[in-house]
Amino acid sequence: MNFFGYKNGELYCEDVKVRTILEKVGSPVYIYSARTLKRHYNVFKNAFVRTKPLICFSVKANSNMAVIALFSSMGAGADIVSGGELFRAVGAGINRKKIVYSGVGKTPEEIVYALAEDILMFNVESIEELEAVDEAAALMGVKAPVSIRVNPDINPHTHPYISTGMKKNKFGIDIRYAQEAYALAKSKHHIQVIGIDMHIGSQLTEVSPIVDALKRVQGLIKDIRKNGIDIQYMDIGGGLGITYKDEKAASPDKYAGAIERALKDFRGRLILEPGRVLVGNAGILAAKVLYRKQNGMKKFMIVDAGMNDLIRPSFYDAYHEILPVEKTQSRLFKQDVVGPICESGDFFAHDRSLPLLERGQAIALMSVGAYGFSMSSNYNSRKRVAEVLVNDKEYYVVRKRETNNDLIKGEGIPSFIKIRSKHV
Ligand code: LLP
Repeated sequence: MNFFGYKNGELYCEDVKVRTILEKVGSPVYIYSARTLKRHYNVFKNAFVRTKPLICFSVKANSNMAVIALFSSMGAGADIVSGGELFRAVGAGINRKKIVYSGVGKTPEEIVYALAEDILMFNVESIEELEAVDEAAALMGVKAPVSIRVNPDINPHTHPYISTGMKKNKFGIDIRYAQEAYALAKSKHHIQVIGIDMHIGSQLTEVSPIVDALKRVQGLIKDIRKNGIDIQYMDIGGGLGITYKDEKAASPDKYAGAIERALKDFRGRLILEPGRVLVGNAGILAAKVLYRKQNGMKKFMIVDAGMNDLIRPSFYDAYHEILPVEKTQSRLFKQDVVGPICESGDFFAHDRSLPLLERGQAIALMSVGAYGFSMSSNYNSRKRVAEVLVNDKEYYVVRKRETNNDLIKGEGIPSFIKIRSKHV
């Protein structure tokens, strides 16, 4: 459930008209609902009331400082994958001892930064990374807290681009070699092994792949503990899916029940890294219709948002519901909803039944709170759009729309190039 809906034919976010935000902040604009974010966090947290895990919001899903700060104020930690995300998490008030650092390609500089910030743990994904973490910790005279991310070789039945726990994926250490990796980690002077980690994929609608992976990982934990290694934390990643169209995603209660049953013999603290399930349905992208046209039999609605603002349809062929911001006409026509970018892949929907909107009328792309703005880019030198957070009757611009000067920030023209007129 979320707090977007119609009142008298007008789309609202909580108690604010989407149209008002478009008028005041401009178009396109991402709009998030604080009430929905809080509700999702509480539902997720309450589902795990028995185990009371550490919930580390996966910052990559939505990296806006206000969103991170909101979760931080509710007690969440953060799952990060870069120095940039660490900077954001700490800046938004996340307790450093609730930060877990995942990712296959941490640079030496990022490792040093995370050690200096004294985070809870590194989720190490390869032997060479383990060595790099040990070296960095040795130079700093500290011990690095480490979990090893194992790849349990489970098919999560999701889109191939977001499946991460199969042998053929780049993530984690093959479970067959994990014990050796743990033995090596134990032998390193500047590594303190504290846990085990996995993450098998995203937008998972069934719980069975997670349960299967947990079984495999628990077998491994027994063997590791026999070797005198204390596994205090078990991080099982994120991945719980949401409903975009008609998917029947497992509820947080079902997800939690299955995990808690599978882990009933585990002694230690559970860590979760949810992203999409917390933020996905808490955000929309509102955009205005620029033009309409017809090529052959096909009708097009050209809007002012493009694939640079929301890449999920182009990249994963993802479905996002599209709603008119004002319900004016009821007759529906099949049409392609496309953006202004010079690529045929710049679309939001093909052959979608929608009313014929006029120029200047607006649509809302639904369920874009996860991997929406955070995957946006400046392609075609388009300014990244504003982000707004609604809280009851109030709304706040939590990221300003970029300007032309933002676009060229940091660029320079070397002196050997003679420019005729100086604009830069
Ligand atoms: N933990 C790790 C180690 C991850 O790699 C991810 C997501 C998460 C947690 C959070 O997963 P979630 O709960 O959001 O499923 N851009 C794609 C999704 C990529 C997911 C990457 N990893 C999309 O738009 O569908």
